[in-house]
Amino acid sequence: MKVLSFGSLNLDYIYKMPYFIRPGETLACLSREVACGGKGLNQSIALSRGGAEVYHAGCIGEDGAPLRAMLQQAGVNTDYLRELPGPGGHTVIQINPEGENCIILYPGTNARVDAAQAEETLSRFGEGDLLVLQNEISCLADIMRLAKARSMKIAMNPSPIAGTEKLPLELCDWLFVNEEEARILSGNPQGDAVEAITRRFPNARIIVTLGGKGAVAAGAGQPRLAQPAIPTTAVDTTGAGDTFEGFFLSRIAAGCAEEDALLYAAQAASIAVSRMGAAPSIPKLSEVEAALGK
Ligand code: RIB
Repeated sequence: MKVLSFGSLNLDYIYKMPYFIRPGETLACLSREVACGGKGLNQSIALSRGGAEVYHAGCIGEDGAPLRAMLQQAGVNTDYLRELPGPGGHTVIQINPEGENCIILYPGTNARVDAAQAEETLSRFGEGDLLVLQNEISCLADIMRLAKARSMKIAMNPSPIAGTEKLPLELCDWLFVNEEEARILSGNPQGDAVEAITRRFPNARIIVTLGGKGAVAAGAGQPRLAQPAIPTTAVDTTGAGDTFEGFFLSRIAAGCAEEDALLYAAQAASIAVSRMGAAPSIPKLSEVEAALGK
């Protein structure tokens, strides 16, 4: 199974703060780092480090050389990555002492993926291949319909959530959401968000990440699987969800049972949150296996 990760690439400007800045306030940061990120890039790296054969498609800008290099160092194929004139995507990320984040996203060239790039890239993939998406690039609806027409499986992380109600999410085979996203996508119901989203998307397997409470895999009329979080000291939670998804899908692609995929994903995410940065914090498969005693 080839994995096509069609997604964003950002330079993350990460500021450690004494607390999240308030309206009207000027506040010095404790430290600053620039690191590779973007949900697409992070998921590609996690998929590759988890052992999958990954192709990353997307658009970088004039400043994107480190992003391409990082993908290549992680063993990701970059033949379908385009470089366009102008600035690429970047973020400004505040990290508070609890390791939580606030992110400002400048889409840059991530918003310049067009129908021609979608068609040309998807023409290289087909039945049995997996498409991995998030909501940080343009042209997503076209990409999803083209993939379905080619009998590919689709895994979607509808994050950031704004605008995803316009996407044909019913085409997805896996949806990766947090509790709040599950609630919003299922029409803000009262009660159990996991139950509500499985009813809204009955053809998908839904993976709901619950932060410190772990994750649940669910589907309409199917048994639920719960995976507790693996405790660690949180330094920076940025990219933890991307690491979880990438490792989960890489294990599924390798033919593992869902229980095992969830365990590997939880361990990989636990290691990632104990380190600074998004992409730089993603562990290798050998580190995850060592931590699991395998
Ligand atoms: O999911 C984490 C990512 O979200 C960061 O790397 C940042 O670039 C934003 O896209």
